[in-house]
Amino acid sequence: MVKYGKCALVVLCAPIVESSAQEQFRTGAPGNASYDYVVNQIVVIGGGTAGLAIASRLAVSASVAVIEAGGLYKQDNGNQSVVPYYGLVMPFLGTTEDYPRQPLMDWDLVSVPQPSAGNRRIHYAQGKTLGGSSAINTMAYHRGTVGSYQRWADLVDDQSYTFDKILPYFKKSSTITRPDVQKRNAPNATVLYDPTVFDNSLHGPLQVSWGNWVDPTQSWLARSLQAIGQTLSSSGFSSGKVSGGAWVPTTIDPKGATRSSSKSSYLSFVSEKNKAGVTVYLHSQASKILFDKDKRATGTTVSTEGREYVISAKEEVVLSAGVFHSPQLLMLSGIGPAATLSTHSIGVVSDLSGVGQNLWDQIFFNVLRGINVPNTGTYLATPTQQAVALQQYFNNTAGPYSSAGGYLSFERLPPKDRAAFSPRTASMLSKFPADWPEIEYIASGFPSGIANLTTIGAISATLLTPSSRGNVTIRSASIADAPVIDLGWLTDPADGETLVAAFKRVREAWKSPAIAGILGGPEILPGDAITSDADILKFIQESARPIWHASSTCAMGKAGKVGAVVDSKARVFGVKGLRVVDNSVIPFSVPGHPQSSVYMLAEKIADEILKGR
Ligand SMILES: Cc1cc2nc3c(=O)[nH]c(=O)nc-3n(C[C@H](O)[C@H](O)[C@H](O)COP(=O)(O)OP(=O)(O)OC[C@H]3O[C@@H](n4cnc5c(N)ncnc54)[C@H](O)[C@@H]3O)c2cc1C
Ligand SMILES: *[C@@H]1O[C@H](CO)[C@@H](O)[C@H](O)[C@H]1NC(C)=O
Ligand SMILES: *[C@@H]1O[C@H](CO)[C@@H](O)[C@H](O)[C@H]1NC(C)=O
Ligand SMILES: *[C@@H]1O[C@H](CO)[C@@H](O)[C@H](O)[C@H]1NC(C)=O
Ligand SMILES: *[C@@H]1O[C@H](CO)[C@@H](O)[C@H](O)[C@H]1NC(C)=O
Ligand SMILES: *[C@@H]1O[C@H](CO)[C@@H](O)[C@H](O)[C@H]1NC(C)=O
Ligand SMILES: *[C@@H]1O[C@H](CO)[C@@H](O)[C@H](O)[C@H]1NC(C)=O
Repeated sequence: MVKYGKCALVVLCAPIVESSAQEQFRTGAPGNASYDYVVNQIVVIGGGTAGLAIASRLAVSASVAVIEAGGLYKQDNGNQSVVPYYGLVMPFLGTTEDYPRQPLMDWDLVSVPQPSAGNRRIHYAQGKTLGGSSAINTMAYHRGTVGSYQRWADLVDDQSYTFDKILPYFKKSSTITRPDVQKRNAPNATVLYDPTVFDNSLHGPLQVSWGNWVDPTQSWLARSLQAIGQTLSSSGFSSGKVSGGAWVPTTIDPKGATRSSSKSSYLSFVSEKNKAGVTVYLHSQASKILFDKDKRATGTTVSTEGREYVISAKEEVVLSAGVFHSPQLLMLSGIGPAATLSTHSIGVVSDLSGVGQNLWDQIFFNVLRGINVPNTGTYLATPTQQAVALQQYFNNTAGPYSSAGGYLSFERLPPKDRAAFSPRTASMLSKFPADWPEIEYIASGFPSGIANLTTIGAISATLLTPSSRGNVTIRSASIADAPVIDLGWLTDPADGETLVAAFKRVREAWKSPAIAGILGGPEILPGDAITSDADILKFIQESARPIWHASSTCAMGKAGKVGAVVDSKARVFGVKGLRVVDNSVIPFSVPGHPQSSVYMLAEKIADEILKGR
């Protein structure tokens, strides 16, 4: 059944809900799909970012089943996961315990209290839908640094992870469309990027482009960051350098200015080519990976609306359930720290102490001030304005709805700001590769609701060099219980020190003469009374939020190294026929935004598997 959205002008109403009958891929019916009649050579658990990318590539020559706990986001979330602007304001992305729940889309994961972060429990949104977190993320696209991928290669003892060697996979995964200068209509938001690190002749499924709209507030706040030394990068952030500022591209399909998720990109791409290759099991939760007596993964038990059944894999099982659920499912299946498994009477298949450990997370805080420049929300404040914006969007793929991303800025803290670091903090930071930025700054703004003030402007700082580590464990031996998540925020004092220095940089940006003319009133948050390092730290502890880049809970590493869960081909140590491919195996949080690296990894391992068949 096709439903139409409520629109200002009937002619502009686009169908917003797709029924599964219209989908281009085959869905599996719950039941014991054995290879007698449904030959699943490969079973992918989790139809998320990595899961759909790897399944789609493998489907070229293998029959692949995808087990996905969620459903279809257009049915379950209307246009919220489709229209770029909505990606920034989806209510269920709230991080406090009382966030508005959207159980059809989100896993409803809430951390244990964080003693070093105001004892708060944090809601950590994770996509529970075909497309996974690529269907709810904020779409910024860029890659890590040359030094960070060299570190990856060294940690896993495999030089095929250097930037030069993985660049072909970044290229293969993405297609870039250069900015439409006319539609963006913002000559003061110049896009600079290096086109040579993309290759559109490869027809990469993931669409990467610049929204046809620039938030005026961001264009101003970008100036403040440039004024304090973070000058515009001439190459953007996809060629191995992540330093200075840039208008970054976003995973938006420019054809209709809609979100490019792993579902709308990879899965539809492969479906066009090879409809039979992928069978998707929706609303189906894998509950335990099965092994034969030789510890070879043979499939998984699955539950769909209470019906239990087995999906078998002739060749191998690929686990792509994400940073919290991949370690959970490994532990439920007998792979993890032996002590944890025995606590829950789970038989040990492979004793791997690293499963669920080494959780990296990047956190941020905001400093808010009133400014008198409009923000995107200003243009959508009234029904009349929304009607205008809808016209711009549907007529012309332009206007406020068409765009998500904006301006990102990265730096290593300058000498004057690191002078106060303790020797320990200085030493922790010195362990990162020299080109690894320490802080990312993001500018944004929202309608103020205060008389005489258009906008509340926000400049945030995100920690990209966390020394604190969290962990994930299981509550019981049942998949019905959510994993226990301890984010470990700010448990290492180096992180607080680094963020206090970043806070001072943010205030410096706010005070730069470049934006003096637009300021309206004193600092709103935390306010001018907060000046001592102790007070600043307390503010950070009480207000830090996730930027949703958690990673590394099933870390890739050298065989025999304590903590390593998978080898450099993503194969789980101690068993056969099982790989983990998602952001949980990347051994650290790649500096900046991870989705490009997750897609790259899926491409790389797919290639590996296809070569080995
Ligand atoms: C709100 C938000 C904003 C973000 N913004 C950005 C950004 O702007 N740029 C960027 O680069 N990155 C961003 N990220 C991060 C990025 O989107 C993620 O790192 C990436 O999508 C993770 O991919 P994944 O394959 O590891 O996991 P996911 O994409 O989360 O996939 C996991 C899948 O497994 C399924 N699953 C889990 N358990 C089971 C089970 N037992 N059985 C069956 N299925 C199961 C889930 O439903 C899900 O579909 C953001 C993330 C979030 C949440
Ligand atoms: C999204 O859907 C809602 C509800 O159907 C509708 O009111 C709104 O106009 C739509 N927005 C866009 C940009 O399509
Ligand atoms: C699947 O097979 C198992 C074992 O043979 C059986 O117990 C179960 O009922 C079957 N499930 C379905 C849904 O057919
Ligand atoms: C950039 O241009 C836009 C569109 O004309 C305008 O709204 C905004 O204020 C400008 N920003 C700066 C920093 O001049
Ligand atoms: C959208 O298209 C209609 C019909 O062609 C036109 O009348 C209208 O002016 C257009 N609106 C915008 C904002 O482009
Ligand atoms: C706010 O606006 C009102 C009406 O425009 C004006 O009278 C008042 O002086 C303004 N206040 C400040 C603080 O600018
Ligand atoms: C997780 O980390 C916390 C804090 O370091 C620690 O107290 C706890 O024991 C750890 N839990 C697991 C399961 O490793």
